[in-house]
Order: sequence, then C-alpha cells, then structure tokens
Amino acid sequence: MRVGLIGLGTVGAALARQLIDGQEFLKHQTGGNPLTLAAVSARSQKPRPGLDLTGVPFVADPLAIARDPQIDLVVELVGGHDGIAKQVVEAALQAGKLVVTANKALLAHHGSDLLALASQQGKILAFEAAVAGAIPVIKVLHEGLAANRLHRVVGILNGTCNYLLTQMQAGAGSFDSVLAAAQQAGYAEADPSTDIDGHDSAHKLAILSALAFGHPMALQAVACCGIRAVTAQDITYAAELGYHIKLLAIAERGDDGLVRQRVQPCLLPRQHPLAGVDNVTNAVQLKANLAGQILLEGPGAGGDATASAVLADLVDIAVGRRQPISVASTQPSAVVADKPLEKLAGRCYWRLQVVDQPGVLAAVAAVLARHQISIESLLQRPSQANDLPDNRPDTQAFPNGNVPVVLVTHQALEPALQAAADELAKLPQLHQPPLRLRIEDNLA
Ligand SMILES: NC(=O)c1ccc[n+]([C@@H]2O[C@H](COP(=O)([O-])OP(=O)(O)OC[C@H]3O[C@@H](n4cnc5c(N)ncnc54)[C@H](OP(=O)(O)O)[C@@H]3O)[C@@H](O)[C@H]2O)c1
Repeated sequence: MRVGLIGLGTVGAALARQLIDGQEFLKHQTGGNPLTLAAVSARSQKPRPGLDLTGVPFVADPLAIARDPQIDLVVELVGGHDGIAKQVVEAALQAGKLVVTANKALLAHHGSDLLALASQQGKILAFEAAVAGAIPVIKVLHEGLAANRLHRVVGILNGTCNYLLTQMQAGAGSFDSVLAAAQQAGYAEADPSTDIDGHDSAHKLAILSALAFGHPMALQAVACCGIRAVTAQDITYAAELGYHIKLLAIAERGDDGLVRQRVQPCLLPRQHPLAGVDNVTNAVQLKANLAGQILLEGPGAGGDATASAVLADLVDIAVGRRQPISVASTQPSAVVADKPLEKLAGRCYWRLQVVDQPGVLAAVAAVLARHQISIESLLQRPSQANDLPDNRPDTQAFPNGNVPVVLVTHQALEPALQAAADELAKLPQLHQPPLRLRIEDNLA
C-alpha cells in the first residue's frame, strides 16, 4: 500500500519515522502487505530532527498527492477544519483513495459529509487518532460495543486542561502561572484558547457522540464552557467538599430519547475513576446496556502516541479489517437535543466574591429563593489576597474587603440556575459574576 503523507509536524514526523524505521515490523503486522511511504508534503521542506526522508519524494502541493494515481492511501496530518486539510481529504476521497486523518476539528465540522462521500466512493475514511490520542476508543465504540446500546459517554478529552487543573490541585500556583509553565513545557499552545475554552473537547465529544448514539455529527448542539474561570481556590474548596474539578465531555441519552452533549468543568466525587485521571492523560468512560461500564485511559496526545492510533488505522486497512464508518445510520433512532442544558437538573457549586458587609448573604439567598433554588451548605472563608483570579480587579475597589462565599445548592433545573446566576451577577455586593459549576454525583 503506497501512502502519501500530508503534514510533517508533531504527529506527521512521528508517523513518517515509524513508517520508515518500523517498516519490517509493520509488514509483519499487515501479514506481508508493506506500508510504503511514497510521498510527503508540508508547508516547508525544512529538515525534521531525527527524520531521514532520503528517497521519499517531497511534493510541494498537497493536492497533487491527493490526486496522484500512484498513491493508494492519503494520511492528512495538517489540522484545521477548513482550508487545505478539508481540500486534501475531499480530493483524495473523490480520487477514490483511502484516507486516514487525526483531525478532530475537520471531522466535528464536516464529518457526516466526508463519511458520506467516503461511503459513496466505497472507500474508508478512518480517524482513530482524532479522539483521545493513543486510546482506541473509536474502535471500541464501532467494533467492540457494536451490539450495545450506549447510555452515556464521559471523557476527559483535553490533556492541556487536565494538566492545568491537576497542577492547580497540586498547589503549583494560580491559573495564569500554571498556564505559563505548561506553555514552557510544551503542554499548552502559545494560543491556548481552543483547549482551555473547551472547543477541542467539544470537537472530540461531537465525534464520540455521533458514533456512540448513531446521529449525524452535531457540533452546534454541544453546550461548551471551558476552564478559564476556575481558580486554584475553587479546586481547594471542591477538595474540602470531597470533589475534584475536571473538564468533562459528556454525551448521554435521556429518558426522552434525546442525546445531550456538553463540555463543562464539573465537580466529580474524588472516588470516581475519572477523578484520579491526572495531568495530560485522557480517559473515556462508556456506559452500555450489555457491556456495562468500560473505562479507557491513556496518553491523549504526543507524536508517538497519536502516530500509534494513525498506524492502527493503516494496519487495519491494509489487512482488510476496517469497515467503513457511517455516523448517521448505525442506530437511526438517535436525535440530538438542540438545547442540551434545558432539561438538565443538578446540584451546583457556587463561588461568589462578595463585599464583606452585613446583609450580603440574605441578598444572595433571596435571589436563589426567587428561582426555587435551596441552599444545601455554605462555606465562608476569611478574605485572602489570592482569592481573585489573576488579572481581575483587586480588592481596592471594595473598601469592605472581598470575601469568597462558597455555596452548594440542591437539585434544580438548569434554566432556573442560569437565571439566578444572571440575577446574582447584577447584585452590587458581588465583586464579579458568580462562578457556578455542576456537581456530577450520578456518573457512576
Ligand atoms: N499533536 C498531537 O498530540 C495531536 C494529538 C491528536 C490529534 N492531533 C491532530 O493531528 C493533526 C496534526 O497535528 P500536529 O500536532 O502534528 O500539527 P503540527 O505540529 O502543527 O503540524 C502540522 C503540519 O502541517 C503542515 N502544514 C500546515 N499547513 C500546510 C499547508 N498549507 N500545506 C501543507 N502542509 C501544511 C505543517 O508544515 P510545516 O512543518 O512545514 O510547517 C506541519 O508539518 C491535527 O489535526 C491535530 O489536531 C494532534
């Protein structure tokens, strides 16, 4: 099988190295069908450390590889949901080629159309590496659990966020300082917004949910909130209450049959298996009618780890093990809720930065009561200099000080909780809008 590789970055270079150095082993794994790196493309033809591409043609135009009749399979490792990545995948499928990609953004935005195109062409579009790096979760959902009805998918799908939250939990500093350290260490991008605002997790969740429940990709129906507002103090308060804070990606089918998808920082009981998944590790918990609970855990990113998943697709295709994946028709009954939070109920953690003066708690309680939300417990701590998130206005504006009040509220519906949060944000005694995080006690 002649492979054309587009992209020689972190993952592409690791893949090329394996295709060259591991050629004999891979030939054995494919039962004698060699995987030959026949052409590569990237933005520039610069040397890649530790990668000797002697004898492998460099093609400046990626589309020329996608259309080259000598190429059987195109691997797209560029990234981005539009632009050259999309053009390459479409052109390769239109030219009747097999395609492997690790591009979650592309799949989340255009996966249904691209998989339909692959199916029309009678070709395979494989994407094991697009979700959770080395963890073979696509294969487990598509093959291992093929006879199951899925109830729920819960994932820690973004290594950067999990690293930041773990570091804050370990006392390494404030959000901004652990982010700066993560950028230094290569665990966070220079522009971390796709990760820390939850979009990367949302892309992966959209893919997993479509596969698990059999609906078309529905990225627009993922409620998405990142971790920017979570402070080291929140992590400490959550720990006092018996919880860890994790950015969870959750898709579940409700009693009404609708699938609800959401990405949110949540409080997870510390004994939950996902609560102990730390640093850049990813994990996915699947709940299915026959199999019960399955937990998959492993490296969610990195050159070799991601190349492992790309190579698994290549080997599967080379030995004829891989069947085309269709996300719209596997279990046609699934419908996605457009407003995933609308009917969601739950307990919540609230942190309010309030002026330290009489009557504040009464004002807060009155707002909550107006929305039928009752307080389960309250935690008040003396004011501390580092109570505020970094780069927020300091306590100078509040001559009476700035005190964190932490509340836990009983079960309430999300629209009421949001309305109360909006109203609380307008109270003059609040230093900043309240932080509200869902408490996920029922994910066992
Ligand atoms: N990194 C991970 O751990 C990881 C994990 C899971 C999935 N993924 C996915 O894998 C894909 C690749 O990620 P990565 O981290 O390897 O990215 P990367 O390091 O940024 O590499 C991107 C590669 O694409 C090339 N490229 C960019 N624009 C191009 C263009 N117009 N024409 C041709 N080539 C172009 C770049 O060329 P130059 O080198 O010449 O600039 C580079 O080689 C993405 O979809 C990503 O989401 C990555």
